[in-house]
Amino acid sequence: MDALFDRVEVLSAPGFEQPELYRRAAVFAQAQIAAAARALQGQPACIVTNDPAFDALGELACRSPAQALVWLQQGPQEDEAAPAAPLPFIDLAAQQAGLRPAIERGIETVLRHGQYVLGPEVQELEARLAAYTGAGHCVTVGSGTEALLISLMALGIGPGDEVITTAFTFVATAEVIVLTGARPVFVDIEPDTCNIDADKIEAAITPRTRAIMPVSLYGQPADMERINAIAARHGLPVIEDAAQSFGADYQGRRSCNLSTIGCTSFFPAKPLGGYGDGGAIFTSDADLARAMRQIRVHGQGARYVHERIGICGRMDTLQCAVLLAKLDRFDWEVQRRHALGARYSTLFADLPGVATPVIRPDRSSVFAQYTLQVEARDAVTAAIGKAGVPTAVHYPIPLNAQPAYRDLGNPEATPVAAAVAARVFSLPMHPDLTDAAQARIAAAVRDAVIGLTA
Ligand SMILES: Cc1ncc(COP(=O)(O)O)c(C=O)c1O
Repeated sequence: MDALFDRVEVLSAPGFEQPELYRRAAVFAQAQIAAAARALQGQPACIVTNDPAFDALGELACRSPAQALVWLQQGPQEDEAAPAAPLPFIDLAAQQAGLRPAIERGIETVLRHGQYVLGPEVQELEARLAAYTGAGHCVTVGSGTEALLISLMALGIGPGDEVITTAFTFVATAEVIVLTGARPVFVDIEPDTCNIDADKIEAAITPRTRAIMPVSLYGQPADMERINAIAARHGLPVIEDAAQSFGADYQGRRSCNLSTIGCTSFFPAKPLGGYGDGGAIFTSDADLARAMRQIRVHGQGARYVHERIGICGRMDTLQCAVLLAKLDRFDWEVQRRHALGARYSTLFADLPGVATPVIRPDRSSVFAQYTLQVEARDAVTAAIGKAGVPTAVHYPIPLNAQPAYRDLGNPEATPVAAAVAARVFSLPMHPDLTDAAQARIAAAVRDAVIGLTA
């Protein structure tokens, strides 16, 4: 062991990458020890340990010297009867393995300069994100929820106002409207994209309407051209809830830069995710950007001069450093998401009774979720789960049928959302999904669907 530890110090230096070990080791130290063992190049090596935490490393860990001897003489023993290990829904560890040196350098820099709040990484990230989207201004904030809330506050929306949004989204979209004192007005969705149905927006506009808030659900922008046109006719701002769509395109422009305001989330599982909560607001309106910057610091204009009501809504410098490292890989990740989404749809093209996501020709999806629709969804997902493939339902209950929101809208007014909520389920989707794992997922889906319809 001493000899191994001698090498661990060297191997854990920046530049050291062992993706599959990081994925399987529960503790960083185990990954280091395992990597050291593997680095004894050209010689068979294994770790003899009683620590069950090493079991996840497979053939590298032996429980006894006798087992190690067999391993050294005969090589790894395959257990053919063992079922395939369950797959993760999102594999952030694989992503981290490739980026770890850059992330560690970024964190180390923040630890050294010590500007944990609104440090230089915050401005650097805002400049890079604004350039990426093409928006004039980017204001980072504490979460996607805060991005939406601060946007509504900057627009002066409050009690007595109405904001039009979709009935089928994550709860944060409506939550922030209620928090301002305004009322969400829920509009039904398109059955294929699951985004707000632009045809139904105009009928929901009243003299109290103050904004339209479409959501780019699952990673695909809504019909923003038509929504912007309706909003312009009525003099309303449009806030794109782009929490799931950072990196997607619409008619040659990037999501977050498609309307008055775009809001995204850096929750770890999002297409651009940090290691904690974070979010950003995008706008090309300088006055709105100034208001948003004040609101995220308690409405402060100059130090201890509070020009408006605000909140504590800043994104930590450490999170910005993590995202700066992740941005270097983001273009590749978006390409992977496109390729994986297209491949899933090809693999399911001939599967009866399964509706694959519809992506309109003038836009792309970053597939924050790859979501299918089937009848008997719960039976199908149960069968898929038995094959070690996790699924999730985004979302099982439309917002106007949620206990906390029931008195704000009538679920019967959005029948498409109600029907879709009973049919949707999402498959594992992340840029590090291997072709082999994807084929295994697709086979599990096919077996489940065919088994239940046979
Ligand atoms: C559509 C939508 N809106 C808003 C949010 C809120 O983002 P956050 O979790 O960063 O507050 C999410 C995130 O889950 C989301 O999916």
